[in-house]
Amino acid sequence: MPILDRDALEFISRSADQTRRVGIRLGALLQPGDVIHLIGDLGAGKTTFVQGMTRGWGSVDSATSPTFVLVNVYQRAGGQRLYHLDAYRLSGTAEAIDLDLDLYLENGPLVVEWAERVRRALPDEYLQVRFNYVDTNQRDLMFTAHGARYQKMIDDLRQLVYGVHG
Ligand SMILES: Nc1ncnc2c1ncn2[C@@H]1O[C@H](COP(=O)(O)OP(=O)(O)OP(=O)(O)O)[C@@H](O)[C@H]1O
Ligand SMILES: [Mg+2]
Repeated sequence: MPILDRDALEFISRSADQTRRVGIRLGALLQPGDVIHLIGDLGAGKTTFVQGMTRGWGSVDSATSPTFVLVNVYQRAGGQRLYHLDAYRLSGTAEAIDLDLDLYLENGPLVVEWAERVRRALPDEYLQVRFNYVDTNQRDLMFTAHGARYQKMIDDLRQLVYGVHG
């Protein structure tokens, strides 16, 4: 059952494909300036979720782990961009500030893996998605809104995923 709370939504995923499909739903809702924090252990499913998000948003490129670059940039028709930052290898907030994330946010949404490592370099309002490993194929996804924009995003996502309003 979904948690019927304005600020939170829980989803139990039973496969990587199911995680991608929820990512597709969220990706379709993204606007420039939106910030999505992805939290969870190694292998929890963050990049898998981003693969769905980039597709739902309309990118023609598919998502990969940003192993050799800190920020992956995806494009869609009309020149809009989606930015995917993996903060795992950043030393912390100072290095994140050097990336001038505000400039990215003028042009598109920003998705951050390991966002808790650089939280102070990111805007105060954001959607958090926490990935918890349950077993080999099962993950618990918890969405939490920080700010009115993201309450609306959770309402819309709930409608898309469960077909109900909270
Ligand atoms: N329900 C599920 N949701 C997401 N991934 C799953 C699920 N079941 C199995 N998997 C597998 O778990 C792995 C998740 O890897 P992924 O790269 O997405 O994790 P990550 O959180 O980005 O890790 P890292 O912190 O190392 O970047 C993939 O191999 C994927 O196929
Ligand atoms: Mg990853």
